[in-house]
Amino acid sequence: MSVVDEREANAARLLKISAGNSYDPDVDIDWRAPLDPERMFAPAHRLSLFGTPLWDGLTPQQRVELSRHEVASIASIGIWFEMLLMRMLLRHISDQDPRTGHVQYALTEVGDECRHSIMFARMIEAFGTPAYRPAPLERALGRYLGATAGGVQTFAAALIAEEILDALQREAMADDSLQPLVRMVSRIHVVEEARHIRYARDELARQVAASRRGFGGRVSLAYSRLMIGRAAWTVTHSLIHPGAYAAVGLDPVAARAAAWRNPAFRETLRWSAERVTAFLQELGLVEGPAKRLWRASALL
Ligand SMILES: [Fe+2]
Ligand SMILES: [Fe+2]
Repeated sequence: MSVVDEREANAARLLKISAGNSYDPDVDIDWRAPLDPERMFAPAHRLSLFGTPLWDGLTPQQRVELSRHEVASIASIGIWFEMLLMRMLLRHISDQDPRTGHVQYALTEVGDECRHSIMFARMIEAFGTPAYRPAPLERALGRYLGATAGGVQTFAAALIAEEILDALQREAMADDSLQPLVRMVSRIHVVEEARHIRYARDELARQVAASRRGFGGRVSLAYSRLMIGRAAWTVTHSLIHPGAYAAVGLDPVAARAAAWRNPAFRETLRWSAERVTAFLQELGLVEGPAKRLWRASALL
């Protein structure tokens, strides 16, 4: 099968899955159900301070509050990633033939991400927390990536964000001690992201193979490795906004430093990304100077 035929066959499969298995958060989620004041919003062992002296000093109520704000922070950053991915996907297909399954699937994915961002936004509203934003430098880098990313950067950056969120949400949806709203939002997102991850993995492998065939492509791969490593750094460093610590009465600067020193949190980050890290390593995208960025991101 030629590369084009294979791409089209994959797109046809993904379009069929999308048609048969999509949610409408407006009707599939009971937005009026009250939150349970006792229940955690994420498993305790996934919270960034778990196991530290700061954690030991928190009351049970403060721990629930911290979980509420950490999940709100991850959802806020999720919206930011999804908006960036939508921009990159639209740029990726702008000059391609809209009659192809490849383009039609990309548009379907933009539609999914649009619903996801609204769903996350309503969840944050229901939590009654702020919508946390990435630091100004990360936002500037995001704008740069959104305006310039080629195929390799687009699909590698998408995979890093999607797979990290996917690992955390798979665990949350299966944990019946958590807030039902968090579990339902996680379940919808996991189901719909499975096809995004498939699409990004297949397309990334094709894009890398095509880049290796020419000198210009190999030069741009070297640049892409650095951009992808920097994107990994942005993802792990933006997930938990320091405001989440301030919300439970902790000093945000000291708590953020404690989280980054916390072996349990570093292990959570490494674990959440282990599949995507291994995949990008197989494709030769975690090599050379970029490796330092991956280590600084706590993913290697
Ligand atoms: Fe999504
Ligand atoms: Fe996605």
